[in-house]
Amino acid sequence: MTSITERLQSLERQAELGGGPDRIARQHKEKKLTARERLLVLLDPGTFVELDKLVVHQCRDFGMDEHEVPGDGVVTGHGRIDGRVVFVFAQDFTVLGGSLGGAHATKITKVMDLAMKVGAPIIGLNDSGGARIQEGVVALAGYADIFTRNVLASGVIPQISAILGPCAGGAVYSPAMTDFVVMARETSYMFITGPDVIKAVTHEEVSKEALGGAMAHASKSGVAHIAAADEKAALASIRKLLSYLPDNNLGSPPHVPTGDPPDRKDKDLAALVPEQANKPYDIKDVIARIVDRDSFFEIHADYAKNIVVGFARMDGRSVGIVANQPAVLAGCLDIDASIKGARFVRTCDAFNVPILTLVDVPGFLPGVEQEHGGIINHGAKLLYAYVEATVPKVTLIVRKAYGGAYDVMGSKHVRADVNYAWPTAEVAVMGPEGAVNIIFRNELAARHADGAEAVLAERARLVEDYRDKFSNPLRVARLGYIDAVILPEDTRARICESLAMLANKRQSNPPRKHGNIPL
Ligand code: HXC
Repeated sequence: MTSITERLQSLERQAELGGGPDRIARQHKEKKLTARERLLVLLDPGTFVELDKLVVHQCRDFGMDEHEVPGDGVVTGHGRIDGRVVFVFAQDFTVLGGSLGGAHATKITKVMDLAMKVGAPIIGLNDSGGARIQEGVVALAGYADIFTRNVLASGVIPQISAILGPCAGGAVYSPAMTDFVVMARETSYMFITGPDVIKAVTHEEVSKEALGGAMAHASKSGVAHIAAADEKAALASIRKLLSYLPDNNLGSPPHVPTGDPPDRKDKDLAALVPEQANKPYDIKDVIARIVDRDSFFEIHADYAKNIVVGFARMDGRSVGIVANQPAVLAGCLDIDASIKGARFVRTCDAFNVPILTLVDVPGFLPGVEQEHGGIINHGAKLLYAYVEATVPKVTLIVRKAYGGAYDVMGSKHVRADVNYAWPTAEVAVMGPEGAVNIIFRNELAARHADGAEAVLAERARLVEDYRDKFSNPLRVARLGYIDAVILPEDTRARICESLAMLANKRQSNPPRKHGNIPL
């Protein structure tokens, strides 16, 4: 009996040492934590329960006997974040470069299966050289087993990936299918083919960081939702993310009282938005003043900055914010903004997070590049996502709501529940100048004989007339397309009350295998 206990303790010590002190030192030198250190930072203190600590690989080829380490290069188990159960796996780069073989993959799929049975989030900490070369197709099969579970768990339990080292080749597709990808700056990268292959094939020269580092994916590809300053910040952001999400699709997000009164008036809010429709301002200043103090957590902050998305709290309730950003591209919807918005709306809908939409949008971005890039399909994604979403939807038109973008951005017509507008709202097919150019083209041409000044004067009169009709929300209110015109200072109170009223909303879509969102 004693000898078994001793052997067990020895194996456990081996597992805890992973690839040994030298490789751990190398990990630290590269400003990376070990798998176990990361779990200590991620989870509530003392809550980690390890599973499969003694599992070893079954591969006996290519000298793999020498590389046998209990745990097989991945630490798996469960723990708690803010007291709530989560399942975790953390790849250990010190063991065979964190590479994934059969046993390693089976450990991961075991915790994924448990997370699905229990209905709890799964968090993967990725740091791996990819498919373990010595295990061949067994490694590829292992990845496919993980991918399959990622898809089946999608929209059922929150799945969060942290990229904390290499993540290359097909291995990137597991994180890509999770709900959120968090990367650490300068110590992580993701790509399908790395700089060497790219150089050989296309003769382009690029560094790993520029090709697939955190900022590349956070600002250019949109693959990363968060680019954290370092590993600790990345892990902290995962804890924060989960605070806005339920354990699973059948639950509600946690209610977190913030002490900020729901009926707090804000007399300064109106002054933030310039009356002139084409003057920029930062919509994030508006968001910060409406939601519970310091509760806004922006997602995809560096990507498609012309739309802002993120989580916040209103009277302690989790809410997903989608807002046009007039400070960037005048808040136009383009391809990237549509994709970003659609993805966020669907994430909120999957996890029962109500959606608050703030509208100040001049329309879809015109241009050959946009058209040929497929703005028709991509814009449709955002529209589709809004219509499909059955969570409570509250919309506020802050200023402009022009054209198709009015429809798309959480209008009453796409099944929003409560629609408000500020007195500064303008709802029209297009802005006054463009509209007059089109509908009064003949009238203006007829005045040409009277000289340029007469044309300009007539044009100005027509623009003013149009503005008078459309540059206020009264016409929309008379049609019932908005439920009320509210004063900016009352915004927080009205939205908090609406979200409270909608808390038990029940709505479902027609039964079908699945919709066919234009991907
Ligand atoms: C087996 C691997 C490995 C792998 C690294 N190691 N990757 N062992 N299979 N895929 C081992 C190394 O041999 C080394 O062992 C140790 O891990 C650390 O690796 P280093 O190269 O010393 O580390 P570093 O210099 O930091 O470079 C990291 C790396 C490099 C860039 C990840 O190791 C690398 O290029 N590895 C191969 C990457 C790759 O091509 N993987 C397959 C991708 S395709 P020792 O004993 O010397 O310390 C893929 C397909 C998935 O993953 C398919 C899904 C459909």
